[in-house]
Amino acid sequence: MEIGDRCKTWTVGGRVAGFVHACHAANYANGAFREYLLADADLVMRLPDHLSFAEASTLGMGVSTAAQALYQWLPLPLPTCDPTMSDQNILIYGGSTATGSIAIQLAKLSGLRVITTCSQQHISWLRSLGADEVIDYRDLSATETIRSLPESLIYAGLMASTEEPPRPEFLPASTHIHSVWNIVYTCFGRRFTMNKEEMGLKRTSEASNVDKNFMVTFYWRVEQFLQNKLLRPMPIEIRKGGLAGVLEGVSEVRKGAVRGKKLVYEL
Ligand SMILES: NC(=O)c1ccc[n+]([C@@H]2O[C@H](COP(=O)([O-])OP(=O)(O)OC[C@H]3O[C@@H](n4cnc5c(N)ncnc54)[C@H](OP(=O)(O)O)[C@@H]3O)[C@@H](O)[C@H]2O)c1
Repeated sequence: MEIGDRCKTWTVGGRVAGFVHACHAANYANGAFREYLLADADLVMRLPDHLSFAEASTLGMGVSTAAQALYQWLPLPLPTCDPTMSDQNILIYGGSTATGSIAIQLAKLSGLRVITTCSQQHISWLRSLGADEVIDYRDLSATETIRSLPESLIYAGLMASTEEPPRPEFLPASTHIHSVWNIVYTCFGRRFTMNKEEMGLKRTSEASNVDKNFMVTFYWRVEQFLQNKLLRPMPIEIRKGGLAGVLEGVSEVRKGAVRGKKLVYEL
C-alpha cells in the first residue's frame, strides 16, 4: 500500500473504508474488482477498532447514497451524536436495503420519526436500527397503512429504489411529489457519463466540487457515529472463493436470492 505525496491525513497501515467509482467507462483503472485499488484520500473514513474490514466494506456506498438523498436533496437537519427528537415523520421506502438501513439510522440521528417498509423477515432488524414504524410492503393492507400516516409526513423520502419503484398508491393522498434522481458518483467531483441502455438512461454529470465537499465533511460525522457505535453496517455473509467467488455472488444477487445482507469475499 502507498499514500500519495500530497496526502497528509493518512499513514500506511491506517484502517479506512470507502468506495470507488467502479464500472466507469472512461476510467477502467478505478474499479474495485482487484486486490489493490486507488481511493481519493479525502473520501475514505477512519474505522474504529471494533469494526472489521469485512463489516466496513459495505459502508461507503450506503452511507454516501443515503447522505446525498437525505441531506443534499431534502432539507433535513444534519445528524448528530446527540439529536433533539422532533415529531417530524419520514417515510423511507426500502428500509432493508443497504442504503435504506443506513438512511434509517441517519434519520434517527437527525431526530426524525422513521416509518419504513421491508418484508416480514426483516421487521425486527429494522426496529433494532431505530425505525419507529415498520410496514411489510407485501402485506395487502400496506397501502392503507401508509395512506393513513400522519399529515405531518412532509418529507416522503423515497429512498433506495429497489427492484421496482414504490407503488404510487403507497403515497399519502395529500403528498405533493417532487421527484429527484441522485447518483452517488457525483461525490467524487469528476465528470462522468452514465449509459444504462437497459434503463434508457444516458446522462453526463459535470465535475463539481459541491457534492465532493459535502461528502468529505459528512464522512467526518460518520467517523464519530462509527466510533460511538451509533451507526451499524449492513449484516454480512463472508464467503470464500476470492475474485472468482464474487462472480458467483453477483449471479445470486441478480436472481434476488440475497436479501437483507451483503456477500463479502475476503482476498
Ligand atoms: N442512485 C444511486 O446513486 C444509488 C446508489 C446505490 C444504490 N442504488 C440503488 O438502490 C437500490 C438498493 O441498493 P442496495 O445495494 O442498497 O440494496 P440491497 O441491499 O441489494 O437491497 C436488497 C433488498 O431490497 C429489498 N427490496 C426488493 N424489492 C423491494 C420492494 N419492491 N420494495 C421494498 N424493498 C424491496 C429487499 O428487502 P426484503 O428482503 O425486506 O424484501 C432486499 O433485501 C438498487 O436499485 C441500487 O441500484 C442507487
